[in-house]
Amino acid sequence: MSNAQGHSPSQLREGTVSLSMPVTKRFSLFSRLRPRSLRAQLALWHGLLLALTLLLLAAFTYLLLREYLNHSADAALTEFAETTSKDIASAVYHYHTLHGDQPLDPDTERRFIDNNDLQSWGRYVQVIDPEGHAVAISDALRTNRLPVPSETLLACRTTARPVFDTVTTLGQYPVRMVTLPVMLGDRIPYLVQVGASVEGVEGALQRALFILLVLTPSIFLIALLGGWALVGRSLRPVDEMTRAALSIGSNRLDLRIAPARTDNEIGRLAAALNEMIARLDRSFQQIERFTADASHELKTPLTAIRGEAEVALMSTSTPPDIRLTLESIIAETERLSTIVNNLLLLSRADADQVRLKQEPVALHEIVLAAFETLERLASRKNITLDFAEMEDVIMEGDALWLQQLFTNLIHNAILYTPEGGQVTLALKTERMGAGRNAVFSVSDTGSGIGDEHLPFLFDRFYRVDSGRSREQGGSGLGLNIARWVAESHGGNIAVASALGSGSVFTVRLPLK
Ligand SMILES: Nc1ncnc2c1ncn2[C@@H]1O[C@H](COP(=O)(O)OP(=O)(O)O)[C@@H](O)[C@H]1O
Ligand SMILES: [Mg+2]
Repeated sequence: MSNAQGHSPSQLREGTVSLSMPVTKRFSLFSRLRPRSLRAQLALWHGLLLALTLLLLAAFTYLLLREYLNHSADAALTEFAETTSKDIASAVYHYHTLHGDQPLDPDTERRFIDNNDLQSWGRYVQVIDPEGHAVAISDALRTNRLPVPSETLLACRTTARPVFDTVTTLGQYPVRMVTLPVMLGDRIPYLVQVGASVEGVEGALQRALFILLVLTPSIFLIALLGGWALVGRSLRPVDEMTRAALSIGSNRLDLRIAPARTDNEIGRLAAALNEMIARLDRSFQQIERFTADASHELKTPLTAIRGEAEVALMSTSTPPDIRLTLESIIAETERLSTIVNNLLLLSRADADQVRLKQEPVALHEIVLAAFETLERLASRKNITLDFAEMEDVIMEGDALWLQQLFTNLIHNAILYTPEGGQVTLALKTERMGAGRNAVFSVSDTGSGIGDEHLPFLFDRFYRVDSGRSREQGGSGLGLNIARWVAESHGGNIAVASALGSGSVFTVRLPLK
């Protein structure tokens, strides 16, 4: 039971099992905005990844679709242009076999595109000569002409390959146009131009875009909500375990955490925690048993030593210097007996073996009794011990233990106040919510207690100045016992102190 680290076993026992992880502090904006709960964190990451994936998917789908539609529109245009071109080539060849090298008459030329069914598709068809003059046009071009950009004409004549243009001057929608040479041997007597409105392609793309714009957020929302629900469901056992672990307080180490399932990560965590609680339980029991046994074993020899010393002191033949030694032995054994008794009491209290009585107690009488036992000590130290206020208060409790509580506090006040000081007691009642409290306070004009000691003051064996305390017969258990008594009666004990000007210990006990 060493207090070297400032933790007595009682402190350890009072701790509850906490599952929260240490929070590392980083001062970036991101970490300040980051949600605290694991569920929200997972949902955030899940949502971000999902949004990214869906956006990429939608963008790719749209781009691929546009590419495909444009490509197939171009392919269809080229195919029709090639058919026309071949028809024209064979007509020209036929004409020349009949009429020799004579140039074609305009009537024949005008009939170039009459024979094919291209026009019915709403396409613009136009046949031009190598200089770019139109020699034949389809019905759709009655008032308009397909433009003949000079670069297109040049490129088509030199490479003899189809050339594509997008024309914006014809109607509401742009027109996609292909220009293709009519090959007669290696001569190019004419060129064929076929154009078609991109209305169909644009319309299809717009519909696709609309679908993607509706579908993507819907999928996102559904997946996000589903993910949130799933994460919540799989984390619920963790919450339950946290609650269970928190309820396993100092004196309920026999409780265990019950996982919903034992074959997964959470089940294994619960099993590990349970094992840890079992180990703690065992070691606490060992300590309790050891303290109880040790105290018990020490009592008998102490009584014997004291008895022998007293017998020797009674004998008239004992020389005076030996008498002094014997007296000091008796004083020390008394001190040791008190410590052993207190230890035994505390270990029994830890093991829940102390049954406090529940009977009506006149607190003012008990305070008076404690006052009387300590009056002599006070006057020996020339300390004024008196009352500021004394109400008659009756409460339910254990008179013996309550008297011990008051005695411990008054004893300390006398002990740690220099000669000529003053110790003032007060007992009154106060309203506390729906009920009432008995309030007992002890103020002294002593040395006071530094702030750094206050958190540990009620710990076992804690003493501000252990040398002085021991000299005066203290062992550091008095306040721990006082707190135990107060808490066992449903109350509490508090201290206010200023170095140099004294301390006030206040006990609040609820009245039924
Ligand atoms: N009224 C007081 N004024 C100053 N110090 C006090 C007072 N009461 C308690 N203390 C400090 O708290 C320590 C613990 O008190 P306690 O548990 O009663 O042990 P002890 O057996 O030493 O009196 C004491 O050693 C003392 O340093
Ligand atoms: Mg004391």
